[in-house]
Amino acid sequence: MTAQFEEQPSEAQIAVHWREEGYVYPPASFIAQANGTDAGLFERFSLENFPECFKEYADLLDWDTYWHTTLDTSNPPFWRWFVGGRLNACYNCVDRHLRDRANQAALIWVPEPESEATVAITYRELWRRVNEFAALLRDYCGLRAGDRVTFHLPMVPELPVAMLACARLGIIHSEVFGGFSGTACGGRIADSGSKVLITIDSYYRNGELIDHKAKADEAIEEARKEGVEVEKVLVFRRNPGQYCSLTPMRLGRDAFVDEVLLDYKDAVVEPVSMPAEAPLFLMYTSGTTGKPKGCQHSTGGYLAYVAGTSKYYQDIHPGDTYWCFADIGWITGHSYIVYGPLALGTTSVMYEGAPTFPDPGRPWRIAERLGVTTFHTAPTTIRMLRKLGPEEPAKYAYRFKHMTTVGEPIEPDVWRWYHDVVGKGEAVIVDTWWQTENGGFLGSTMPALQPMKPGSCGPGVLGIHPVIYDENAEEVPAGSGKAGNICIRNPWPGIFQTIWGQPERFVQTYYAKYNRDPKSTDWRDWPYLAGDGAVQAADGYFRILGRVDDVINVAGHRLGTKELESASITVDEIAEAAAVPVVDDLRGRAVEMYVALKPGITASPEIEAKVSAAIEREIGKIARPKAVWIVPDMPKTRSGKIMRRVIAGISNFTAVGDTTTLANPEIVEDIRKQVQAAKYARGTVPAELTPEQIAEIQAFGSVE
Ligand code: WT7
Repeated sequence: MTAQFEEQPSEAQIAVHWREEGYVYPPASFIAQANGTDAGLFERFSLENFPECFKEYADLLDWDTYWHTTLDTSNPPFWRWFVGGRLNACYNCVDRHLRDRANQAALIWVPEPESEATVAITYRELWRRVNEFAALLRDYCGLRAGDRVTFHLPMVPELPVAMLACARLGIIHSEVFGGFSGTACGGRIADSGSKVLITIDSYYRNGELIDHKAKADEAIEEARKEGVEVEKVLVFRRNPGQYCSLTPMRLGRDAFVDEVLLDYKDAVVEPVSMPAEAPLFLMYTSGTTGKPKGCQHSTGGYLAYVAGTSKYYQDIHPGDTYWCFADIGWITGHSYIVYGPLALGTTSVMYEGAPTFPDPGRPWRIAERLGVTTFHTAPTTIRMLRKLGPEEPAKYAYRFKHMTTVGEPIEPDVWRWYHDVVGKGEAVIVDTWWQTENGGFLGSTMPALQPMKPGSCGPGVLGIHPVIYDENAEEVPAGSGKAGNICIRNPWPGIFQTIWGQPERFVQTYYAKYNRDPKSTDWRDWPYLAGDGAVQAADGYFRILGRVDDVINVAGHRLGTKELESASITVDEIAEAAAVPVVDDLRGRAVEMYVALKPGITASPEIEAKVSAAIEREIGKIARPKAVWIVPDMPKTRSGKIMRRVIAGISNFTAVGDTTTLANPEIVEDIRKQVQAAKYARGTVPAELTPEQIAEIQAFGSVE
């Protein structure tokens, strides 16, 4: 035990007592058509058949050269999958479907304004657009396999076209969520060393045409500060022929894609045959400390994993109309809007705008009009749609057979509304637990073969063998009612390869805690630490409690406390800052900031507003805190570490826990009175927390 654990008792182990929910069984109509109806699958993917079991996923792809080694563990934990194999991800998602489904829609894009026509892009049309754009990337931008290019694009069809064009050439794409600020984008450009930025002039969100190109100029400025000079900015135009941004185009650097593309009309670019181990893309995500981590995903392992999980867990058939209502700016969109569904040759729907624009009936109108069969969204969206339009789904004649929830724990009563009202009692639900780092699902029920249990994701998916460890690396047995750190015993093809440019941080963050021997080349000695607290019921189903590191999951998006705190202290008056999660009806968790002022400065609402504005500027609107509390001092350990779990307890009206190890225990009571009195006055006292929520708040920050 290290000193750190003595200061912070192992709260991830706290006992959790909740009412076990009963099973809900999939409808016969679903089972009758499901891809996964053979219980023999579980045997084929058992630990005894690891790693060869994953051949079944790899065989869903077309390989230029078949691989000779399924899993190479010689340099742990940098696992190499399907070694010796060569393939092209774009070929697998586009070209190979031309023979049988050239005229089937690959993508259907729904613009936010309802007056604008929906756009269907067939596989043939997608092939043409991807080829032309690949030619532009190669010949106009001079990009080659292994180069990085950053996209800062919203939900427009140009985004999957650009991703696939990169994949065709082996260029590593790095998409930054369109809602992130220019500064946040610039940091990711610099970290990845991208010389090209691909953006758009504007897009619609909540009825407003947003000026997006303005962020490109901020991004380039930030990248320059961090030592990277962007040479070219490619600008798509949301409305053909019109430039809807107030920022000027910079001569020699910025170009309109539609104009440059005229030179590449009907160009054909051969897909580059890439090693299975070549990186396909980077996806940045927040961690405990420091800057966001560029999760590097592979070509062969990743694509095989998303194809396999799309087939069995999303139950995707080529004839389905599948709508994943997420943003491609997150891993969910990469894996389950673009790569997985297209690898299987289905029709994937993309929607540009806000879920409730112009009213909360919008998603159901889209589903009805397009004949969506398979629907995929996050608890935060379900909560919002339930709150604003509880009667809306019944008004529309769509019929879902399959629905997914992803990104945060879903409360059983929200789950039941999703099942009964959105799914009309006819759709099976999968609650899929996974992370940016993982490529694809880790925990879920197999929809036709395993019953659902509201609030639990289910067991590990095919070939994934989760285990819960306590702080002493002892296994926490199923059915014990005790929570611990959920880990995965074995590697899998979708696991990221490393943190871009930071291999030590990769090993440290995900493997060091439970590694049994740093020299061992046996994968059994390298459990993967997910960073979530979890409990396993006697039937093997996992209930995910949430992050145990200093990461806050707001509406399914991870925000690092460090990033929020660094943004806050860019405000001159602020000496110190601490970010904590607070339970929120709609977004699952929201952020509250605690700040201490520099000596001689007096608290004021203006300073609070400055902190919010700084966070929006540095990270983006999604990170805006629900409250900023100016406090006289932070509760700290004797080593000077801010005890976030103590202030998290204050914000959530839960017990603050042991404060005897603090250097300044008296401050806790002062802060509690100040903050809780203000919450009473504002009417923002949270409803009573569930035992799972209390466990999460009390464990907040217990893993370093
Ligand atoms: C964190 C990962 C990959 C999907 C989008 C989020 C939480 C994710 C669930 C779920 C309970 C979940 C975990 C995880 N999470 N799915 N079904 N039930 N919690 O990806 O941004 O990398 O966040 O989201 O805490 O660690 P991400």
